Amino acid sequence: MRALGDLVSGVAHELNNPLMASDTILHVIHESLQKTNPNKTRVELVQECNRRMGKIINHLREFSRQTQAKPEPPDIHVSIQNALMIIEQQLLNDNISTIKKLTPNLPRVLGDPNQLEQVFLNLISNARDAMAAQERRRELTIQTDLAGTKDQPEVRITFTDSGRGIPKDVIEKVYEPFFTTKDVKKGMGLGLSICYGIIENHGGRIEVESREREGTTLTIFLPGFQGGKHGKTNSRR
Ligand SMILES: Nc1ncnc2c1ncn2[C@@H]1O[C@H](COP(=O)(O)OP(=O)(O)OP(=O)(O)O)[C@@H](O)[C@H]1O
Ligand SMILES: [Mg+2]
Repeated sequence: MRALGDLVSGVAHELNNPLMASDTILHVIHESLQKTNPNKTRVELVQECNRRMGKIINHLREFSRQTQAKPEPPDIHVSIQNALMIIEQQLLNDNISTIKKLTPNLPRVLGDPNQLEQVFLNLISNARDAMAAQERRRELTIQTDLAGTKDQPEVRITFTDSGRGIPKDVIEKVYEPFFTTKDVKKGMGLGLSICYGIIENHGGRIEVESREREGTTLTIFLPGFQGGKHGKTNSRR
């Protein structure tokens, strides 16, 4: 894990420099365009993509430093919504319908909203990859509910896809760094190992269940925040 951390931190560092350069150039182009020029909006879209890349680079840095999650009680539904916002268009392009079953008034969880967003994004993009090429129904269901006990409440978040499923001999390996069944352009095999590290860092756990040719469910359990004063999560559509 240490070697992986060094590698990730090196990659994050190398990516940051060209990203800063591209930001500067985009800013110059943006300033030079008239408000009415449709390219101005296009440049803004690219700037938004850069901001997203910057966030990812920061996540990689946090991951490689194995930092403790920031002790904030995030609203889990906001993190889900943010992740969906980023990947929504890709789901639509692949004709994947998303069903949200978000339970209102869940306890907040203690953790870092950006890291949790990163986890959700990884799980949704795995689900998309598992369904993208199939003729069958393409459906992603995201559900949240209360689990655990009264004394130790947990928030449960499940991601269920109707994709190709994971063969039995593969399922034990999915959290291993660099384990992938995708071709080299599509996957590095880092998504789930990063998710595993983040969830463990949050004092939670992640479980996988799958049936071949039927689909896969990834379930995350996070300890509920019991401070109380930060209120409850909102249910959003
Ligand atoms: N929802 C899913 N359905 C089917 N297979 C899955 C699903 N999620 C993960 N897998 C399997 O687990 C492997 C590892 O997943 P992981 O997210 O770690 O890496 P990746 O998606 O291959 O690459 P990366 O996330 O780095 O782009 C995948 O290659 C795939 O075989
Ligand atoms: Mg992945």
